[in-house]
Amino acid sequence: MKVLNATWDEESLGVRTAEVSIGQGDSLEEIGSALREAEASYRYLAVKLPTTRADACFLLSELGYTFVEDMVFLEHDLHEIRRTPLEQRFYDSVKIERMQNGDFEELLSEIDAGSFSFDRVSLDPYFSKEASARRFHHWLMDEKSRGAILMKASYKGQMSGFFTIRDTGDGVYSSALGGTFMKFRHTGIGINNQTPEIVKRLGGRKLVIGVSTNNMSQIRAVVRSGFFPVRANHVYIKHTDIAK
Ligand SMILES: CC(C)(COP(=O)(O)OP(=O)(O)OC[C@H]1O[C@@H](n2cnc3c(N)ncnc32)[C@H](O)[C@@H]1OP(=O)(O)O)[C@@H](O)C(=O)NCCC(=O)NCCS
Repeated sequence: MKVLNATWDEESLGVRTAEVSIGQGDSLEEIGSALREAEASYRYLAVKLPTTRADACFLLSELGYTFVEDMVFLEHDLHEIRRTPLEQRFYDSVKIERMQNGDFEELLSEIDAGSFSFDRVSLDPYFSKEASARRFHHWLMDEKSRGAILMKASYKGQMSGFFTIRDTGDGVYSSALGGTFMKFRHTGIGINNQTPEIVKRLGGRKLVIGVSTNNMSQIRAVVRSGFFPVRANHVYIKHTDIAK
């Protein structure tokens, strides 16, 4: 079991935050005592419970944790993506290029307008939409400073979405953040996924992403593009200052 001091989230959310990862071999007694200990020093705890350890759901519930989402991890082995003629038309209508410094302002204001409000922070009445947007701003900048490539998508000359791609080593790439802007939802272009082709061009061998089940449209889109699910975490949270 790992208890991480999530200093990156403390900066965005204003409360001392722990990210707890439960392992396959952790006993219920170990989980219970580690959580009680962590609760003494953190105000917000996010617990990642592998779905293979669903036996611990009952304990988390007893300890006052609230279920907020499942995080599904999907992989792409960079095989060629087969598209229907309609999907190909949507694909060809979107231009992908590296983001320039001037594009950031537009991306950040789309985040502020709620284009990406499906995360566990924006859905939590304890936090504000502003805190969630701040968290995405920080996260984006953190990804950039860790060497991620930021790409923008445009439709008929207008920025329609973005995504990040980062080399995590050994030919494995991740795309932590990405999506289509609100005003382009339900247009069909959201099903586009260019990330596997880009990773292939960069010489990678695999792409790994994590998508929340609160974001089913993105799960549908990535499955259509040939990603396959490999594992999932149940995510629970607790605010110790309002816990009963
Ligand atoms: C909504 C979404 C962005 C994140 O949801 P979330 O509930 O806020 O996610 P979490 O914070 O629980 O988990 C994200 C991970 O990033 C980490 N993270 C978050 N903010 C971070 C930051 N500023 N710096 C470093 N790491 C950060 C978390 O620690 C967590 O790590 P873990 O995977 O080891 O647990 C995600 O579910 C999603 O939909 N991603 C889209 C991916 C995608 O579609 N990519 C492009 C297409 S291929």
